[in-house]
Amino acid sequence: MKQILTVLIALMVFALVACEGPAGPAGVAGQKGDTGTPGVNAGFVYFEGFKDSLRCASCHTPDADTTKFLLARRLEYESAGHMEGTAWARGINSTTCASCHITEGYLEMARGNYVSQATKTYGNGTPPGCFTCHSPHAKGDFSLRKTDAINVKSFVAGAPDVSFNVGTANTCVTCHRTRETSPMSPIPDPTKTAATDSIVITSNRFYPHYGVQGQILMGEGGFEFTGYTYASSYHTTLANAKNIQCADCHMATPVVVAEGKAVAGGHTLKMGYFSSSTDTVGSVNVAGCRDAACHASDITANTMTRPNFEKYRTAQQDVEHGLDSLRTLLINKGWLVASSNLANASSSKPLVIKPAYKAGALFNFFFLEHEGSHGIHNTKYAKALLDASIAELNK
Ligand code: HEC
Ligand code: HEC
Ligand code: HEC
Ligand code: HEC
Ligand code: HEC
Repeated sequence: MKQILTVLIALMVFALVACEGPAGPAGVAGQKGDTGTPGVNAGFVYFEGFKDSLRCASCHTPDADTTKFLLARRLEYESAGHMEGTAWARGINSTTCASCHITEGYLEMARGNYVSQATKTYGNGTPPGCFTCHSPHAKGDFSLRKTDAINVKSFVAGAPDVSFNVGTANTCVTCHRTRETSPMSPIPDPTKTAATDSIVITSNRFYPHYGVQGQILMGEGGFEFTGYTYASSYHTTLANAKNIQCADCHMATPVVVAEGKAVAGGHTLKMGYFSSSTDTVGSVNVAGCRDAACHASDITANTMTRPNFEKYRTAQQDVEHGLDSLRTLLINKGWLVASSNLANASSSKPLVIKPAYKAGALFNFFFLEHEGSHGIHNTKYAKALLDASIAELNK
């Protein structure tokens, strides 16, 4: 029986091989396979954790890294105002300063643990660093941590807040904006024009903090006296179309090196720099300005001495002259202290200005001092604010 079966099977196999029919239609897809084994978590408890399967050496190979240039960027960043300056320490032991002045406060604000700027008090802290703007361990790349729209609070009565939504520049403006809780009270009001309207200023800091770059770039935030027009430069058109970022100008490559130190461009965040320790003239890194759609035809080198830059289209020069004139007028009125460049006011000796709206000229002086570019961010707006302020003080 067993033999017959063997012969039968052999015959069947033979028959199959001998007269193979045409191939049948393709079968249906098989079932999905098992998911692979999970990636390995590095297992460290560190700041905000590590992304699964992160390969440490893809970033931590300083000598061989010609892709991300991490060590190079670290060295550039040593020259950034964030690291060279001392203001970061103001974020320590202070509830209202931490979210912009130290990494630890910024992180918690960015994660939404605190509404806008209010954070807790940190007894320890570090200057803004790589992990402020990026989140390389948790994300595994160098995309920016925070790029959502930023509300910049207005400190001029009747003027709306600015919703700043330009792109990577949003990261900068999370800090480079007015403070939510400002010592500035009362705020100036363009409608208070009656001779009897008065404003009583009780602090020598008649400004809503230093970082007004986001506002001026958008052509907002200054005190706009009624009866004047306030145009903006092409930089504002570009910003509105999300076509210019702080980084396009401030982080332009190639990086400028002087005396073995990165001094401008890239992660130095710097435009202006000195070409040596004995240089008293200074230069500006204009590499970013030379973009094909911008100043490619009239700027022919990546750097320019400061005097040449000031004369370039006379933009900086005009704004500086205007700012000097405004300053002199304010000092002559007794509103500004020449030695400190602060308002001539304190809680014990308040400054009373009548009609109240004229305090806008003092506000504009600080606004334009603090935007820091001598008008380059938005020349037309800076000039318009200056001209109106000067005209009103001369009335
Ligand atoms: C996507 C890039 C990237 C990857 C991948 C990466 N790191 Fe980092 N890591 C950084 C950067 C950037 C810094 C900050 C460097 C600096 O401050 O100069 C840093 C800093 C560190 C520090 C120093 C922290 C301190 O406070 O001094 C340690 C430790 C560290 N990384 C460990 C690791 C380990 C372990 C892995 C792998 C599990 C890893 N990193 C993967 C980018 C990365
Ligand atoms: C965590 C908050 C924070 C972020 C984010 C931030 N900055 Fe700053 N920035 C500061 C503070 C605070 C200072 C003042 C540092 C000092 O004087 O000690 C400063 C200073 C600067 C300076 C130097 C100013 C000077 O007068 O020398 C430049 C330029 C600058 N920032 C550009 C940028 C750019 C560009 C970005 C975005 C790519 C950015 N910052 C993002 C907080 C921040
Ligand atoms: C909204 C974010 C923000 C908050 C909140 C904030 N700062 Fe700042 N601060 C900045 C930025 C940005 C700069 C640098 C601006 C620049 O250089 O253009 C700065 C600059 C400074 C400077 C240097 C000014 C100078 O002389 O150039 C001091 C001092 C300072 N801040 C103190 C404080 C203190 C104190 C607090 C809390 C009471 C505080 N800041 C809260 C963003 C902030
Ligand atoms: C003040 C904010 C800020 C800080 C601090 C900062 N970066 Fe950046 N970084 C940027 C911006 C803005 C870009 C350009 C990003 C873009 O255009 O998408 C960038 C780009 C990069 C890139 C290139 C990413 C790419 O895809 O090409 C690397 C790498 C990098 N940063 C590393 C670092 C390291 C390392 C540190 C610390 C030494 C650091 N960054 C600190 C803002 C910052
Ligand atoms: C169109 C190019 C351009 C853009 C865009 C731009 N800046 Fe500037 N910024 C400049 C120039 C030019 C200066 C003046 C540099 C000088 O005179 O040394 C300057 C000056 C500054 C200063 C004063 C400190 C310094 O280095 O002298 C700060 C702070 C600053 N910019 C921050 C920002 C921030 C934040 C943004 C984005 C909201 C921004 N800038 C966008 C060109 C630009």
